This record gives sequence, structure tokens and C-alpha cells, in this order.
Amino acid sequence: MADDRVKVEAPNQEEKDEISQKNVSSNGESAAGNQALSKRQRKKLLKQQKWEEERELRKQRRKQRKQQRRLERQNHQEEDGGDTQNARKRLRREVMPSALRIIVDCSFDNLMLIKDVCKLHKQIQRCYAENRRALHPVQFYLTSLGGQLKQSMDEKDKGWVNWKDITIKMEHYSEVVPKDDLVYLTSDSPNVLEELDEKKAYVIGGLVDHNHHKGITFERAKELGINHAQLPLSSFVKMNSRKVLAVNHVFEIILAYLEKGSWQEAFFTILPQRKGAVALDQDGTADKDSDSDSDTPEQTEKKD
Ligand SMILES: C[S@@+](CC[C@H](N)C(=O)[O-])C[C@H]1O[C@@H](n2cnc3c(N)ncnc32)[C@H](O)[C@@H]1O
Repeated sequence: MADDRVKVEAPNQEEKDEISQKNVSSNGESAAGNQALSKRQRKKLLKQQKWEEERELRKQRRKQRKQQRRLERQNHQEEDGGDTQNARKRLRREVMPSALRIIVDCSFDNLMLIKDVCKLHKQIQRCYAENRRALHPVQFYLTSLGGQLKQSMDEKDKGWVNWKDITIKMEHYSEVVPKDDLVYLTSDSPNVLEELDEKKAYVIGGLVDHNHHKGITFERAKELGINHAQLPLSSFVKMNSRKVLAVNHVFEIILAYLEKGSWQEAFFTILPQRKGAVALDQDGTADKDSDSDSDTPEQTEKKD
């Protein structure tokens, strides 16, 4: 393509300074001043005038070139537009929703201070966002929604009323799902979850309590006579802190397990570094090398 740029050389800074100095010193007597200019200075002045005169022209040319580039880009996109759309369709097809249900039980609202309700609100937002982008999104339920949590949602995130792919109920989960389908996830249960059953509804206690209400969800599950289980943390990781996880971590571990089919990978992808998770060998001893290919990003940062 021919280069149609205006080839007028701009005066360099030294030249500009020299000319403007001359102009300043000749203020009020410009004609006489111009007369006094040397041949070289007049040449420079003319050059500057030409540069100024063609400013508008250069602007138009720049605009034309920009427009042309935009058109070229558009043509390009139209040419391979079909491919991009196909790729998008492929991606959409790869997402396979799981039949598994996860319920966040929000019936502990009156046991929390408002700052902990706000933390729970954020954890629920995180669960919702992660589920929306998961490869195998679960059937997500919030039950017993009301009180301080609903107030926080109404005030800080009015958009929640438009959330998609989620069932939000004011009722207790036992009124929403048949009892036989329910499994309460609680770190206090003696039962250890081996695998996930897609026909079940797993309940997570919607509670941020800094362990002030230790065992409360286990007691509730027993009172209701429903199944309960803890995540198989001790079989796969050695942790330097207690095994009570936050709502969103439990939720995300389940999403990761559905995607990877491995508890160990799911734990290492999701668990925060401060939990100090170390992989266990099959004989149950801490395996110092095994974290080399299952590092969480945080762990990698720390090691480096
Ligand atoms: C911060 S914990 C609440 C702890 C609370 N004291 C209790 O008794 O459940 C939030 C919820 O995550 C789930 N959870 C946390 N750690 C778990 C684990 N190791 N196994 C199974 N569920 C867990 C439980 O449903 C729990 O109610």
C-alpha cells in the first residue's frame, strides 16, 4: 500500500525555540523583525508556517488511515466469524450440568453477628459465580433465606433477584427436598464421604461462626434423622489447621471433584494455602514431593 502520509518535516525543538525567541524579541515590530531575520531563519520560519498550515490535512489523513484499519479488521472478523461461532458452540456443549444438588442452609441467621452475615453473603456470591462458570454446574439451592442475610443481599446486591440457575427458598431444606435424598456435610460426622452420588442433595451449613457453635450442624442432622458425612480430607491431605472449611471452599471442592474425579486434586486446587495442606501417601504419611504437580497457585508463589 502506497504511503500517503504528508511528508512535511516538523521543525525540531531547537529550531522552534530559536524562531519563537526571535518572535518574542521582535514583538510589536514583527514586520521589521522579519526583515531582520537571516536567510536561514526565514527558511525555518516558512517551514514552521507550512507545518502549521498542514496540521488539519495531517489530522484528516490520520483519521482516514484509522478508518481503513478498522474496516480491514472488520473484514477479517467476518471472514473467520464462522469459526469463532463454532468454537463458542463447542464450548457451550462441553458444559454438562450435574444432577447433584447442593443446598446452602441459611437457617443459622440469628446466630451470627452482622459482620459474619456479610462474610457469608460474600461466600454465597462466590459459590454462585463459581457454579456459573463450572464445567459441571450443580443444582444450587439456598434455603431458609431471610433475616439479616436477605437484608444484606437486598441492600448490597439487588441483582440477586435475577440470579439464574439457582433455587432460592424461604422454606427449610427439609420442606424442599425429600429427607432420603439429603446428606448433611459436617466435619463432625464420623462418616467419611467416599464419592458423590448425583441423586443426592448435599447440605452445607450457611454459617460463619469461628467455631463458636461447634457441632451444631451435626446435631441438627441427627435431630432431623438425615444422613451426614464429612469430606475425606484426612485421607488425602495433612492439614496444619482444623478441618472446618468455609462454605465456598466446600462448595468449590465439590465442583472441582465433579470436574477432576479426584478428591486430592480437588482439595489441592481449592484449599487456601494458610490451611497448610500437604498431600498424603496411600499409607497415610505426608508426601513431601507429591505436591509438585498439584500445587495451588498460592503454594507455588510461596515456594518461589
Ligand atoms: C464454617 S463451617 C460451619 C461450622 C459449624 N460450627 C458447624 O457445626 O458446621 C460451614 C459449613 O461447611 C461445611 N463444612 C466445613 N468443613 C467441612 C468438612 N471438613 N466436611 C464436611 N463439611 C464441612 C459444613 O456444612 C459447615 O456447616
